[in-house]
Amino acid sequence: MAKEMYVVGGSKGGVGKSFVSTGLIDTLMYRNENVLLIESDTSNPDVWKMYKDSVRAELIDLDTADGWIDLVNVCDSEPESVVVVNTAARNNRGVVTYGTTLSSTLEEMQRTLRTLWVINRQRDSLELLKEYLDALPSTVVHVVRNGYFGDERKFELYNSSKIRKTIEAADGKSLTFPDLADRVSDDLYSNRMSISKALTELPIGNRAELTRWRNQMHKVLGEVIDG
Ligand SMILES: Nc1ncnc2c1ncn2[C@@H]1O[C@H](COP(=O)(O)OP(=O)(O)O)[C@@H](O)[C@H]1O
Ligand SMILES: [Mg+2]
Repeated sequence: MAKEMYVVGGSKGGVGKSFVSTGLIDTLMYRNENVLLIESDTSNPDVWKMYKDSVRAELIDLDTADGWIDLVNVCDSEPESVVVVNTAARNNRGVVTYGTTLSSTLEEMQRTLRTLWVINRQRDSLELLKEYLDALPSTVVHVVRNGYFGDERKFELYNSSKIRKTIEAADGKSLTFPDLADRVSDDLYSNRMSISKALTELPIGNRAELTRWRNQMHKVLGEVIDG
């Protein structure tokens, strides 16, 4: 078996896809996994900038057929690495058109595909998830309520939705990703720092908040990695 492949999706801008990708890479590295990052947000490659010095990182445009070919080839060349794909807004279009390039090759590559679908509290997050599931039925989807938008019970639309039942019946989990204090998330973004670098360079108070968040985040994402 090759290592798992994770797609961090949501198909909307600003829901926290990059943030969750960053957290997932950090969790995997903390567990001594080799990570291969595929950054498909080629116009704003924020995760690539933060992690290109610590993991193998490729910029691949998943709006094109060529991009999906490259994705499959690079994954196949690194079976020992866990793959993390950070997606861009409106990624569903590429998935609908070219998703079979990936799903038809997973078995031969011996990769399992897991999706972390990041949502805010709005309805379109869920409608886009239905579209994604139809286009890529070969994936297990875990839904990530981003705590940045409020605590778990505020996601009532998702919590009481039919799609939640569908997800959980197919072994998907419903998770809540913790909220990091804005001033510390701003530190990460403005300095393009990885989480582990920030843990050596930020002022002591900021590091303490980052550590609190990181421990919580490792626990939440650990449920998916171990599950
Ligand atoms: N869990 C979180 N804790 C703190 N800030 C967050 C969190 N999630 C998102 N943010 C903030 O929202 C902004 C947008 O998130 P980002 O991950 O870039 O979204 P996307 O990649 O989906 O466009 C980030 O720059 C960050 O400031
Ligand atoms: Mg992003």
